Amino acid sequence: MICFAALLTFVLAGHALAFPAHGSLAGLSADELARVLPTLKRAIPSPPPGPMNDTSAKAVNTPVNSWLPLADGDIRGPCPGLNTLASHGYLPRNGIATPAQIVDAVQEGFNMGNDIAIFVTYAAMLVDGNLVTNLLSIGGKSSLTGTDPPAPAIVGGLNTHAVFEGDASTTRADAFFGDNHSFNESLFQELVSFSNKFGAGNYNLSVAAQFRFQRIQDSIATNPTFSFVSPRYYTAYAESVFPTVFFVDGRVANGQLSMDVARGFFQNMSMPPGFFRTNKSAGLSAIATGIGQVFLPHPIEPGSNQGAVNTYEVNPNSADFTNFCKLYTDFVNNTVKGLYPNPTGDLLNALNANLGFFFQPLAGQGCAQVFPFGQPS
Ligand code: HEM
Ligand SMILES: *[C@@H]1O[C@H](CO)[C@@H](O)[C@H](O)[C@H]1NC(C)=O
Ligand SMILES: *[C@@H]1O[C@H](CO)[C@@H](O)[C@H](O)[C@H]1NC(C)=O
Ligand SMILES: *[C@@H]1O[C@H](CO)[C@@H](O)[C@H](O)[C@H]1NC(C)=O
Ligand SMILES: *[C@@H]1O[C@H](CO)[C@@H](O)[C@H](O)[C@H]1NC(C)=O
Ligand SMILES: *[C@@H]1O[C@H](CO)[C@@H](O)[C@H](O)[C@H]1NC(C)=O
Ligand SMILES: *[C@@H]1O[C@H](CO)[C@@H](O)[C@H](O)[C@H]1NC(C)=O
Ligand SMILES: *[C@@H]1O[C@H](CO)[C@@H](O)[C@H](O)[C@H]1NC(C)=O
Repeated sequence: MICFAALLTFVLAGHALAFPAHGSLAGLSADELARVLPTLKRAIPSPPPGPMNDTSAKAVNTPVNSWLPLADGDIRGPCPGLNTLASHGYLPRNGIATPAQIVDAVQEGFNMGNDIAIFVTYAAMLVDGNLVTNLLSIGGKSSLTGTDPPAPAIVGGLNTHAVFEGDASTTRADAFFGDNHSFNESLFQELVSFSNKFGAGNYNLSVAAQFRFQRIQDSIATNPTFSFVSPRYYTAYAESVFPTVFFVDGRVANGQLSMDVARGFFQNMSMPPGFFRTNKSAGLSAIATGIGQVFLPHPIEPGSNQGAVNTYEVNPNSADFTNFCKLYTDFVNNTVKGLYPNPTGDLLNALNANLGFFFQPLAGQGCAQVFPFGQPS
């Protein structure tokens, strides 16, 4: 924070152009907020889109949604799903989107179910997005344009470590090793060798179970700061399932992902030629079934290393798969509240609106809504 405050002072003092519209406000002090907020253009958050009417398989790599290489300044991040949607124009190609655009894009491009789409998108928005401008960067850093000399990059967006992005990723290294979001060839080669060994050359849920366990063991043995508690605990398992559902052509939909198609998505952010999205909407219950198949062969409880390698201890305070509502409650009451201890005005209103949207899919899971900033009037 000290560095950040200094950077902000530099940026705000010397230049007309200030805070990027997609920069996250999370963790800013009251002072910083007082300086930044007046420079931002307010946007009223619109409610999340509902489910699609037509959830059949269909061609999604079409001429209007064809892949284009990155243009100068385009942002990409740790999520191969969102990176691909941006590179195919389902999301703004610059990588900066509203939550509603993200929900629409993951539904239209990949047939992701409405409940999980809302859940994941608003979780990300709450911790990594700019709640006042209603924009989220799918990566993080982007140089502030229009300053001379160019200002250093500001962190924010999905690359932000520990609130959503986390350790033991499939093809991205732990933040401890320096780069938490770029495609990592040596991790991909491990994925290939596991797919050869357990999937006859394809990635499937049997491979996912072995590889998820391997990635956790690897982090325990090499990363003294390894952290594997909620919400990362959940997203790690979910992300192991996603490729078997969303990256497999919908005319086949057999859960077997070839390595060349995998590389296209993970590295090149591209759908294969003629790609069809999967043949039914896959929401929380479908993904939970997959998570069970990944978790059960090697059950690992949430926990972390204690500042040295090979010191993994289970953390009984973290939500786990026996208590899904605790994932929600702790995320709202601890993570979001921790980032925004005392919001007021437009920021408070935006937080409450987004918390309400985030809760929508949880209501169907029998969870009780919590109000970390009091009940909005
Ligand atoms: C709905 C909005 C979504 C958001 C906000 C989101 C966000 C993220 C974030 C922050 C990560 C990084 C976590 C980490 O590894 O540390 C991630 C990883 C991942 N996401 Fe997404 N995601 C979304 C939708 C999707 C979709 C639709 C797909 C598949 C089509 C997908 C596939 C993946 C995969 C496979 C990874 C793991 C990458 C790796 O570890 O190599 N995501 N996502
Ligand atoms: C979906 O169906 C409903 C009910 O038939 C209709 O009101 C709505 O306009 C449809 N939405 C789209 C995007 O076609
Ligand atoms: C790739 O990941 C490995 C294992 O986590 C790590 O040691 C290596 O430094 C990473 N490479 C790059 C280029 O980040
Ligand atoms: C994530 O990676 C980026 C760039 O590689 C780095 O600048 C940033 O500091 C990393 N975040 C953390 C918390 O390590
Ligand atoms: C994964 O592939 C292997 C090899 O073909 C197969 O034995 C296994 O049943 C597959 N697992 C799933 C869940 O599809
Ligand atoms: C999707 O495809 C799979 C595999 O071919 C098939 O088992 C399933 O019934 C299909 N689902 C729908 C809704 O078409
Ligand atoms: C990435 O995908 C696009 C579209 O399929 C293709 O034109 C391009 O050659 C690919 N690039 C790499 C490095 O594979
Ligand atoms: C969450 O925080 C609110 C407001 O501080 C509090 O009233 C509520 O009891 C908390 N809920 C849980 C389950 O901790």
